[in-house]
Amino acid sequence: MVVCSSCGATNRDGARFCDSCAAPLTDVRPRREARKTVTVFFCDVSGSTALGERIDPESLRAVMARYFEEAKTILERHGGTVEKFIGDAVMAVFGVPAVHEDDALRALRAAEELRDGIGPLNDELERSYGTRLELRIGVNTGEVVTGTEERIATGDAVNVAARLEQAAPPGEVLIGDDTLRLVRDAVEVEPAEPVKAKGKAEPVTAYRLVAVRSATRPRRAGTPMVGRDRQRKLLEDAFANVVGERSCQLFTVLGTAGVGKSRLVAEFLRSLEEATVARGRCLSYGEGVGYWPVTEVVKQLLRDGGGATASLGTILGDASAAGSPDEIAWAVRKLLEAHAAERPLVVVFDDIHWGEPAFLDLIEHVADLSRDAPILLLCLARPELLERRAAWGGGKLNATNVLLEPLAVEESRELIEALVEAETIDAGLRARILESAAGNPLFVEEMVAMVAEDDRSDITVPPTIQALLAARLDQLDTAERGVLERGSIEGQVFHRGAVVALAPEETAVDGRLVSLVRKDLVRPERPVVADDEAFRFRHLLIRDTAYDGLPKAVRAELHERFAAWLVAHADDLVESDELVGYHLEQAYRYRVELGPPDADAQRLGERAAEHLLVSAERARARGDSDAAVSLLSTAVELLPADSPERRAAQVELAVVLTWCGDLAGAEAAREEARAAARAAADDRVLARLLLADLEAQVMHAPDLTMRGGLATSEQALAELERVGDEEGISWALLLRGNFEAWLGRNAEADRLWLRALERAEQASPRRANEVRMWMLWALWWGPIHVDECIRRCEELKRHSTSKELEAHAMVMGGNLKAASGALDEGRAEAAAGREVIRELGDMLRWAGTAMVVGELELNAGAYGRAYELFSEGREGLATTATGYLSTMVAFQALAALELGRLDEALELADEAERLAQRDDIDPHARGRIVRARVLARRGDLAAADVVIREAAEIVEETDWGALHLDLAWARADIERAAGRREGERQALERAVEVAEARGNRVAAERARRQAAELPDPTLDG
Ligand SMILES: Nc1ncnc2c1ncn2[C@@H]1O[C@H](COP(=O)(O)OP(=O)(O)OP(=O)(O)O)[C@@H](O)[C@H]1O
Ligand SMILES: [Mg+2]
Repeated sequence: MVVCSSCGATNRDGARFCDSCAAPLTDVRPRREARKTVTVFFCDVSGSTALGERIDPESLRAVMARYFEEAKTILERHGGTVEKFIGDAVMAVFGVPAVHEDDALRALRAAEELRDGIGPLNDELERSYGTRLELRIGVNTGEVVTGTEERIATGDAVNVAARLEQAAPPGEVLIGDDTLRLVRDAVEVEPAEPVKAKGKAEPVTAYRLVAVRSATRPRRAGTPMVGRDRQRKLLEDAFANVVGERSCQLFTVLGTAGVGKSRLVAEFLRSLEEATVARGRCLSYGEGVGYWPVTEVVKQLLRDGGGATASLGTILGDASAAGSPDEIAWAVRKLLEAHAAERPLVVVFDDIHWGEPAFLDLIEHVADLSRDAPILLLCLARPELLERRAAWGGGKLNATNVLLEPLAVEESRELIEALVEAETIDAGLRARILESAAGNPLFVEEMVAMVAEDDRSDITVPPTIQALLAARLDQLDTAERGVLERGSIEGQVFHRGAVVALAPEETAVDGRLVSLVRKDLVRPERPVVADDEAFRFRHLLIRDTAYDGLPKAVRAELHERFAAWLVAHADDLVESDELVGYHLEQAYRYRVELGPPDADAQRLGERAAEHLLVSAERARARGDSDAAVSLLSTAVELLPADSPERRAAQVELAVVLTWCGDLAGAEAAREEARAAARAAADDRVLARLLLADLEAQVMHAPDLTMRGGLATSEQALAELERVGDEEGISWALLLRGNFEAWLGRNAEADRLWLRALERAEQASPRRANEVRMWMLWALWWGPIHVDECIRRCEELKRHSTSKELEAHAMVMGGNLKAASGALDEGRAEAAAGREVIRELGDMLRWAGTAMVVGELELNAGAYGRAYELFSEGREGLATTATGYLSTMVAFQALAALELGRLDEALELADEAERLAQRDDIDPHARGRIVRARVLARRGDLAAADVVIREAAEIVEETDWGALHLDLAWARADIERAAGRREGERQALERAVEVAEARGNRVAAERARRQAAELPDPTLDG
C-alpha cells in the first residue's frame, strides 16, 4: 500500500497518482535537504496542569489521547504532516513533504476546525469530569530547511509559530503576517497585540483568526478583461455547434496556473443567453474528492426541476442508494440529457486536474454516449491533467482541447496600465513586471498589488505566486527537479552542457529536459555556447523558485562548479570574466552566509575578484563607468583587507568614481588605499595614488597649478619607473602630457603622449585608448592643420576598438570638418558622437564635449545655439569646481558677448577667471579676450588695450590654435570699436592668416569678407 503524502489516503501498490487527491505518489519525498516556504502550526492545551490536579491521571491520559487523536485526524485531513507532541503541544507542518499552493489556507482551515471542533469533546468532558480543554493555536509561514535527518523543518518560522501559540489567548488562533499575506481574501481576521519573541528586536505582528470565509483563495475581482477574443470566438463556435447539431461536445481549456482559464470561461458565460448553465469545481483536497463537482452540478439542476434517480442518491449523500460508477455515470447522463432536451446545457467543470479518476471517467462517459442533446461539457485544467491522462479528449470526434497561451506583450502592458493607478509605479518597474510576469495575468496582478501595497522599488516573487510555483515544482520527481535546479544556477537561460557538468550522477539529462519542455516549465532557446543546447525557463519566477529551493551550501558548490564549466566551455564569450567572477562571488557569499569563511572560501573570493577586475578593465575600456564602479566595488569587497590587489583596485575605483562625479566616494577609496599602502610600505600604490589625487584635483582643486601637477606627475613617474609598473608609467606620462598641454605646450605634450602610448600598448589597451583620447582633444585645441587633424580622426575611427574613443573622434572630427567648410556634415557627426558618449553614461565627458560643439557653432556664427550648448555643458559640470568648468564658462562669456549681452559677458568672464586654476592658460586668456572686447565696445579703449595685451602675452607663449584665432578676432573687434579702420583691416588680415594656417576655412572666409566690406582706404577721410 502507498500512503499519499498529500492527503494521507491509502492507495494500491504501484499506483502513480493518489486516487483521492490525484497528487503524484512516486518520488515526492525529499530525500535531500531543501529550502522551502511552509506553514507551521502549533497547538497547545491551556491549563492542562490545573486539569491534572482535578482529575485522575488515568482519566487525564484518556482525555489527552482523545485530543491528540482529534488533532492529528484534522491536521492530516487538511494535508498537514504532524511532527511531534511536545508535552501537550502538537506541531504540524504544511508543505512537507510536498508544497501545495494553498498550504497556508489549509493550515487555517485545520485551525478553525480544531478550535471549533473541540466543542463536542468538551461537552463530554464537562459531563464526565466537570472540566473543559481550551486550545491555543499559532500559525506562521516562512522559509525553513527540510529533509534533514533530525527534524521535519528547521527555521525561524517554526520558532515564531510556537511564540504565536504561546501568546494566543485560550480558544484563539493567532496567525503571522506572512500567513495572512497568502490567504488575505479568504479569511476574516482582527489585528492582535504584537508578540515579543526571543532573539527578535521587533515584536512579531499577529492577527486573530475570526473565520475562514472561503475554501479557496479568491482571485482579485474587477480587473478589466484584455485580449482573448479569438479564444472566446472558439467557445462561441463550439456552443453554436452544440446547439445547431443538437450534439454533445467536450471542450477543454488547458493552461498554466493563472493564465486566465476561469476568467475566459466566466466572460464567455456572461455573454451566453439561451442556455442553462451548471458548474462544478474540483478542489485540491478535502471535500473536493469523489464526485463532488458532479454533485454540485446535479444539485443545481435538480433545483431547477427534474427528478433524482436512485443512483444519483449515492452522490447526493443518500447512503441507502448504492450505485456503481457505471450506474452513476448513466444516471448523470440521463439527467443532463433531460435538461438539454428543454434548453441547451452548458456544464462547466473547473480545475479538473484535481479530479478523481472516477469523475474524469464520468465526463468521458457523457461525452461518448450522449446522443441527440445539446450539451457543452466545458472543462478547465492545468496541463498537469495530461500527465495523468495523456489521452484526454483524444480519439473523440466531439472533443477539443485548447491551450491558453500567455497574453501577448501588448495585452500584458494594457493590463498593467489598467491595474496601476497613474504614476504610482514608475516605468522601469512596470517594465520589470512585464518581463517577469511573461504574459501571465495572475502574476501581473499579484506583482502590481505587491508593489503598490509595499511601495517597493523592486520586485520579488509575490508569496502567492511563490507558493503556486513551489507546489508545481514539488510535483516533479527528484531527478527532473534536480535538472531544473542545476539549470537555475546558470540563470533564466541555461545550457545542457552545464546541467551535465553540475549533475554528473544524472545519466538521462536529455530525457529529463524533454519532459520539462513537455511540462512547459522550460523551452528550447538559442544557445550562446557553441555546440551546445540551451533552454529558457518559461518564467523567471520559475527559475527563482527552483533556485530558492536549493540549500545555500549546495548553491555555493554548484556556482563554483558552474564557474569552472564556464572557463572550460565558454571562455570565448565576451563577458565570460564577468560571468565567471559573478558565479565565484555567489559561491563565496553563500559560504560567508553559512559561517566565517575558511581559507578555501577566502580563495574563492580572491578568484572571483581576479575575474571581476579583468571585467572592470573591459567595462572601462568601453566607457561603461557604472559597470566599472560596480565590478570594482565588488572586487574590493571580496579581496582580503591587507592584499596588494585590494589597494590597487581601490585606486582604480577612486579614479572611476572621480569621473562619475562621486567625489566623496572617490576620496574615501583613496584614503583607505593610502592608509593600507602606508602600512604595507607599498610604493607602487602610493605612487599611483599621487596620480589618482591629480585626476581629482584637476577638476576639483582650484589651488592646483599646472606646474604643480607637472612636478607631481614627474615624481610619480620616477617612482613607478623604479618599481617597474608599466601601466602606472603610461598613466604618469599621460598626465604629464596633459599638464604640458594645459600650460600651452602641445608639441611637448605630444611627445609625452606618444611615450605613454608606447608603454601602454603592452600593459593596458584601455590606458592606450585613454591616451589616444587626450590626443584627440589636442587635435581640436592645438596647432596642427585641420585637414591633417581630420585625417587622424578618420583613421582612429577606422581602427578604434573602443566605442568611447570612436565617439570622441566623431566629436572632434565633426568640429574640425565644420571648420574646414563642411558645416552640416561636421555638425551632424559631432552630435552623433556626443550621443554615443551620453548613451555610455559618461556624463562628465559628455558635458565636457559641449565646449567642442559650442565652439563649432561660434565659428559658424550661430551664437544663440552656442550659448545654449555652453550653458548645458556648464550644468553638466556642476559637480566640479574648476578645470574644464572654467573653460566652459569662458566660452559661455564669449557667446554672450557675440549676442551683444555685454554685462553678462563681463560677469561670466570674471567668473571664468575666478574659477580657473592659476596657470591654466585657456580660461585666463579667453576671459581676458572677452573683457577687452567688452571694454572696447563700451568706449574704454585704454583699458581694452591693456587687457588685450595681457591676453596676447599668454596666448603668444602657446601653440593653441583656437586661442590664436580668438585673439586675432578680438583685435579686429577692438579696432572696429575704436573706429580705427586701418587697424581693423590689419587685424582682419592677421585673422585670415591665422585661420588659414590652421585650415579653418570658415573663419578665414569670414575675416576676408569683413575686410572686403571695409570702406576703401583711399576714400578714408
Ligand atoms: N484576459 C484577461 N484580462 C484581464 N485579466 C485576466 C485575464 N485573464 C485572467 N485575468 C485575471 O488573472 C487572474 C488569474 O486568472 P484565472 O483565475 O482565470 O486563472 P486560471 O487560469 O483559472 O488559473 P488557475 O489554474 O489557478 O485556476 C484573475 O484574477 C483574472 O481575473
Ligand atoms: Mg481557474
